[in-house]
Amino acid sequence: MLNISSRLSLFLHSPLFFSPSTTFLSNTLRTASMSSSSSSPNEEESLNQVFKYHNQTKHSFNNYARGPHGLDWANQPNPFRRYIGSHLLPLQHLPLSSSTTPSPSYASLFVSPSTLQPLSLSTLSQLLYDSLSLSAWKTTGDSTWSLRVNPSSGNLHPTEAYVIAPAIGSVSDYPFVAHYAPKEHSLEVRSVIGGEGLFGLLPKGAFLVGLSSIFWREAWKYGERAFRYCNHDVGHAIGAVVVAAAELGWDVKMLDGLGYSDLEKLMGLGGLGKFEIPSRPVKGKLPSIEFEHPDCVLVVFPHGSGSEFSLDYECLSSKISEVMEELEWKGKANSLSKEHVCWDIIYRTAEAMKKPLSIDSRFGIEPFQGSELISDGIYKGSLVRQIVRKRRSAVDMDGVHVMKKEIFYQILLHCLPSGSQGGKVKQGKQLAFPFRVLSWDSEVHAVLFVHRVEGLPNGLYFLVRNEDHFEDLKKATRSAFEWEKPEGCPDNLTLYRLSKGDCQQQSKRLSCHQDIASDSCFSLGMVARFDQALCDKNVWMYPRLFWETGILGQVLYLEAHAVGIAATGIGCYFDDAVHEVLGLKGSAFQILYHFTVGSPVLDKRIMSLPAYPGPTIDA
Ligand SMILES: Cc1cc2nc3c(=O)[nH]c(=O)nc-3n(C[C@H](O)[C@H](O)[C@H](O)COP(=O)(O)O)c2cc1C
Repeated sequence: MLNISSRLSLFLHSPLFFSPSTTFLSNTLRTASMSSSSSSPNEEESLNQVFKYHNQTKHSFNNYARGPHGLDWANQPNPFRRYIGSHLLPLQHLPLSSSTTPSPSYASLFVSPSTLQPLSLSTLSQLLYDSLSLSAWKTTGDSTWSLRVNPSSGNLHPTEAYVIAPAIGSVSDYPFVAHYAPKEHSLEVRSVIGGEGLFGLLPKGAFLVGLSSIFWREAWKYGERAFRYCNHDVGHAIGAVVVAAAELGWDVKMLDGLGYSDLEKLMGLGGLGKFEIPSRPVKGKLPSIEFEHPDCVLVVFPHGSGSEFSLDYECLSSKISEVMEELEWKGKANSLSKEHVCWDIIYRTAEAMKKPLSIDSRFGIEPFQGSELISDGIYKGSLVRQIVRKRRSAVDMDGVHVMKKEIFYQILLHCLPSGSQGGKVKQGKQLAFPFRVLSWDSEVHAVLFVHRVEGLPNGLYFLVRNEDHFEDLKKATRSAFEWEKPEGCPDNLTLYRLSKGDCQQQSKRLSCHQDIASDSCFSLGMVARFDQALCDKNVWMYPRLFWETGILGQVLYLEAHAVGIAATGIGCYFDDAVHEVLGLKGSAFQILYHFTVGSPVLDKRIMSLPAYPGPTIDA
């Protein structure tokens, strides 16, 4: 299972590459003053755990977050979970050429909902084919590996997906729970649900998609920082599902009022037994470390069918217990590695963030808010199905390509959470595609390092995605920053110039010295409102901040491809060094993800093979 993709990205962003003897970063434990006045002792402990995790897993110029001192190739985790003994239900392969439904244009998804398609074997197949399936196999020398529609740090793919649906003709005569097997593009039916009662509580025509993470897959390579990457990947997977659903005229919302145990029951997880967290990092045979951590459940429903809909989470949770607890689960989870390493802080942090059921949580389906389209020509009529399946991370940028200013502004308009169609819109509420899947107001902004945009001075810029944070951002950052709207910037685009000047070397240094950050048209860092999100909302906002960055990243990937270039997510960056550049002190705002957008250089040594039928290896 040794593959070149893993090696390439290991070379690019492994702690090992930079510092074989990583030192433990000092733990800046948060004190009582950090917590909101209403927090209980347990909440206080959970907050301390999260701040401890976040600080301990920062990379800095001198120290990288703790990780393995060499990669144990013999125990590289199998990227494909299977439930041995469950019934395998093949889905349809629907390349664009044989698609029965017309593909909407990419740009149209941001303007208004697409034509509604009914739920059927073929549309469910398309949803998964265009979001979480394999999109190619790559080969060079004696290495062969698969790539997927959704990206993943180090191509390790910790995210698993489940479909929980009512009876669907040609799929199942009964409601069912199934695990999605991407290599086979098939559903593994894990259980059949007696009765449609659960679905009666959801919007008409709805079904659920659940996502879970196998931390071990990512921790195998990245050690303690892996929990962050798993959550980035969840965000990308959410974004991928929302985009593929939109092709079919379906809206998607996270059922975020549900608690951890509701999610566990819905996806039928827990079969590997409880993982006992050791008190320090340990190595050995730890089969239960391969458990899946339930992250979230998304409700997928016809656009417009939920406008009058209201959901009582307490009632839904009781129904889940009533319906799911008695189910018989088919299939045994396959083993992914023979031996493991447990980076205990990951599991302690995940434990501290197990969300309870939120009885008071409000589930609303707000009207779709369109985004501004500067000109039809920018996306050259690209079809969304073409874009999602050809998305690829750039491993190199050419350092030459200059982006047109209107393309730059258009990409950023599509990054706004509240849309921008029809007059001035205040940014904050997540009403626009695809951010409307999230139930909270935007917490994530972006600082841009502009290198090659025609007619725009190079320098630092800031995209404000929640205008309620604007004054706090200004106060928290360097007083010398200009906060000037750039020339020609659309009225609705909340973009500000901070300072002029060449920032190529700076952006490269901050992104763990990776050339892709400086050889692009622009790179960026996603800055989250941190203390307040965790203390005023709740500690379980921590993974959610990463999910929000992942969805934003997914938009950047697709935007780049739709305008004919490419992008790459960058999980390796020096946290506090970025804060220093911005003048950020304390943890009111924290950098959570980097990204780069530019013209890719292809590696001609690597050959591309079709996704299906692929070779019969697990890689
Ligand atoms: C959260 C995240 C972090 C990543 N970090 C880096 C990085 O620091 N450097 C890099 O070259 N690629 C990075 N990547 C790109 C992955 O290596 C890439 O997604 C993976 O190899 C799969 O390739 P694909 O995106 O073409 O499907 C990252 C991707 C994600 C989703």
